[in-house]
Amino acid sequence: MSEGDAAATLTVARGPALAGEVQVPGDKSISHRAIMLAALAEGTSEVSNFLEGEDTRATVAAFRAMGVAIEGDGAGALTIGGRGLQGLSAPQGALDLGNSGTGMRLLAGVAAGQLFCSQLVGDASLSARPMARIVHPLRAMGARVWAAAGDRPPLRLCRGARMRGIDYAIPVASAQVKSCLLLAGLYAEGVTRVVEPGMCRDHTERMLRSFGYPVVADGPAITLAGGQALKSCPIEVPGDISSAAFFVVAATLVPGSDIVLRNVGVNPTRDGVLHILRAMGAQITLSNERLAGAEPVADIRVEHALLRGIDIPQHLVANAIDEFPVIFVAAACASGTTRLRGARELRVKESDRIAAMAAGLATLGVVATVYEDGIDIEGGAQDSDSGALNGGVIDSFGDHRIAMAFVIAGALSNEPVQIKDCENIATSFPGFVALAQGLGIEVCSQ
Ligand code: S3P
Repeated sequence: MSEGDAAATLTVARGPALAGEVQVPGDKSISHRAIMLAALAEGTSEVSNFLEGEDTRATVAAFRAMGVAIEGDGAGALTIGGRGLQGLSAPQGALDLGNSGTGMRLLAGVAAGQLFCSQLVGDASLSARPMARIVHPLRAMGARVWAAAGDRPPLRLCRGARMRGIDYAIPVASAQVKSCLLLAGLYAEGVTRVVEPGMCRDHTERMLRSFGYPVVADGPAITLAGGQALKSCPIEVPGDISSAAFFVVAATLVPGSDIVLRNVGVNPTRDGVLHILRAMGAQITLSNERLAGAEPVADIRVEHALLRGIDIPQHLVANAIDEFPVIFVAAACASGTTRLRGARELRVKESDRIAAMAAGLATLGVVATVYEDGIDIEGGAQDSDSGALNGGVIDSFGDHRIAMAFVIAGALSNEPVQIKDCENIATSFPGFVALAQGLGIEVCSQ
């Protein structure tokens, strides 16, 4: 956690136009995968722009506990001594993944293939999240897996006599499930084939190929054969589009704003937020498009624009799943109604994000109708002199993205917004407060 982010409570007031150029921290999904694949590779890998957040540091700690040498400068440069697929050693005690669903679900895939048993634990939020989605297919592959009541963490995993490949249609659109099974598939006899119901982030497939591991993607079907080797390689982690999204929305909403976000990952399985905001009328321009290893990156310029409500296209839902809290803030300030359906997964994230956002938006005077799998949000007057939203006290439910979404809402409110329980911002976005202040957002501790 960096200075300024430690506060449990943040207060935001309506401020001036946003201006400036910033670089958001490294991508969380890619940072987790960089640790895991480099640890399983043969040889030493250098990782740059690694996200120094609590979630990804928990993954580092877990792999160190399994005997992997990981040296870091604390500022995003890591050297990872890969131990090969069979080189991990039994940890002393449980592996604690903190708040991180990605850490736990992906590590479960690796743990299922080890000759030793492991126990995976997490904080109160993670301990309430569903694990049946990985427990059942891992068992079908031959792993021995125990979970707490309701298939929740903690998990205990041991390899069965042998792991075998699986041909599995994933019931929920989840890159964590896909990645868990592909990682377990590295240890399985024969071929593992997973079919996703909708397009999910493909960082695991891209990075496996960077490490020289053959992966075939045929539409929604991803296939790999077990038992081959990963070869060390350098990984440059792009800026996290999920973190950038907060400032994309803020600059769009605050009149007169004009900002540039440098070096942001724009992988087409992650850029749904840009498509949704553009469809609402946002002015977003990409430049300097290039590849960072296997991942597309770009600089993103955002200028203030007036938004209108839309029906969010179904094919973009999985692609923008982490950005909905801040998209809901955009919707609250757009003209007309924004409708989201097919997003039941939002209810099992770090909090129930449909309920948490509806509660907070109601406090700020926004009318919303909640559905089991979505929400309708009635927009307000984005450019009115008094501010589009009311002030108030918001419960973030300990969810980093709910907390940050309401910081952005505070920049549009006619009275200060106070957000409680913000410590977990450090799980994904260390330095958020300082970066927001640097762009002109009037946020402070207490
Ligand atoms: C992630 C996948 C998504 C996302 C999470 C990161 C990943 O979760 O919400 O923040 O890195 O694979 P699901 O797989 O549960 O959709």
